Amino acid sequence: MRGRGGICVGLWGSEETDFTQRGAETQRTQSGERKRKEQDKERKKGKKKRMDKFLIRGGKALRGTVAISGAKNSALPVMAAALLTAEKVAVHNIPKVRDLVTMGKLLTFMDAKVSVTEMPASDYVIEAPTLRHAEAPYELVKTMRASILTLGPLMARLGVARVSLPGGCAIGARPVDLHLSALEKMGAEITMSHGYIEAKVPGNGAKGRRLKGAHVVFEKITVTGTENILMAATLADGETILENCAREPEVTDLVAMLRKMGAQIEGDGTATLRIRGVRELHGTEHRVIPDRIEAGTFLVAGAITGGDLTITHCEPEHQSAVIAKLQEAGACIETIDKTTLRVRGGKKLVAADMTTEEYPGFATDMQAQYMALATQAEGTSMITETIFENRFMHASEMIRMGANLSLDGRRAVVRGPAALSGSIVQASDLRASAGLVLAGLVASGETVIDRVYHIDRGYEGIVEKLRAVGADIERVHGSGSGVHASVPVPVT
Ligand code: UD1
Repeated sequence: MRGRGGICVGLWGSEETDFTQRGAETQRTQSGERKRKEQDKERKKGKKKRMDKFLIRGGKALRGTVAISGAKNSALPVMAAALLTAEKVAVHNIPKVRDLVTMGKLLTFMDAKVSVTEMPASDYVIEAPTLRHAEAPYELVKTMRASILTLGPLMARLGVARVSLPGGCAIGARPVDLHLSALEKMGAEITMSHGYIEAKVPGNGAKGRRLKGAHVVFEKITVTGTENILMAATLADGETILENCAREPEVTDLVAMLRKMGAQIEGDGTATLRIRGVRELHGTEHRVIPDRIEAGTFLVAGAITGGDLTITHCEPEHQSAVIAKLQEAGACIETIDKTTLRVRGGKKLVAADMTTEEYPGFATDMQAQYMALATQAEGTSMITETIFENRFMHASEMIRMGANLSLDGRRAVVRGPAALSGSIVQASDLRASAGLVLAGLVASGETVIDRVYHIDRGYEGIVEKLRAVGADIERVHGSGSGVHASVPVPVT
């Protein structure tokens, strides 16, 4: 089955229609509208069916080997970068997670052909000889903020783009003003209309509506902002200098891929990127780096459960801040070789303060997981969140499980160790869900985590991976009422 651009092969469970239905989502004909309503109804039914939960019986030490998947946050910009060329781009080590399905749908919507040989897939081939729809529609953007990553490539290739504003999210306002002001510096005219960013390079198209090189100093370090403008600059007229760039490994991975496509970029891994625009980019093949957040989550899982985990297919260098902090907290972590880490718990965990920072500091995406660990450490740990203003949604759920912690603005004070007890808790965002899973692994009795669709956005096969190393966790399919944790009822 194919849509306008079309995903060629295979089924993503019941997702096949999802990949291709973006045509229906925007058809403006009457029959299209009717079909869209029917499909919306079906999708809503389907969504209800997919309101899965996790059921965890805590108390097991995790032992064994876990292989880390490709990095979601690398795969997203890398797939978006395929829009920069008319030629074929093959991408490997894509994690089998929901956000990448959404990115596949988005590229298909724009008329790219996205091919996979199995479903779910980790190898994608993307071809965008023409792009008839320079648009990221609200229906897709609302489920994945990273859809904004198509703005830079569309502006570079076509000089025009219409991308739904992502809006706020559970962890804060998350504006994209820095992406937009940088594009304006590069000659784009940007207006907001009906919740959409409408951007274009003015002119009659005779010069191909090219952005022009510019000197951009990001007011604040932004990961997707750096990636977006980097991609935009690859096809701009002249040189672009980007200062105060994000130095995250995912940015460096994107630079590596763009360079293989023929982009002229210097300064990767530093805060200043210098890009000389080229007339066109060509096809390439790229393997995305391992997911450092998934690896970090398993490091915490080994430490918090007093287990012994060997973590393979990872990049130990990207884990420096997490390793240092976990060692400070009493975990024993060894680098076995270039792609393997071993974590052993067992010793008493001790409190250690932690502040989130841009790379190479401790990642905000590991803060919830670290908070779970801090609940088990002896003493008082101060956790300071500097990247997002509202990223402690998991704290109240951990308190419900028995954590001794209090919040003061961007600070959390965690006193441990606390005996956590299984509860019914709600996941509020992707990384918060991971924090709750870790808390559930050490809680007594049963923990039920609701709204795990958040975790499915970014962790490949987390239930299977945890079960394989001894965790008692299962996915329960249900629409809202099917599972009850056997939380003891207090007798008064
Ligand atoms: C990316 C990651 C996300 C991670 C975050 C911080 C992806 C797909 N997502 O998100 O997992 O948690 O980096 O490491 O890679 N800001 C502005 N204006 C802007 C852009 C950002 O004020 O135009 C602010 C944000 O609100 C936030 C800070 O800058 O406070 C950093 O955000 P940013 O690095 O842009 O996060 P994302 O790229 O969205």
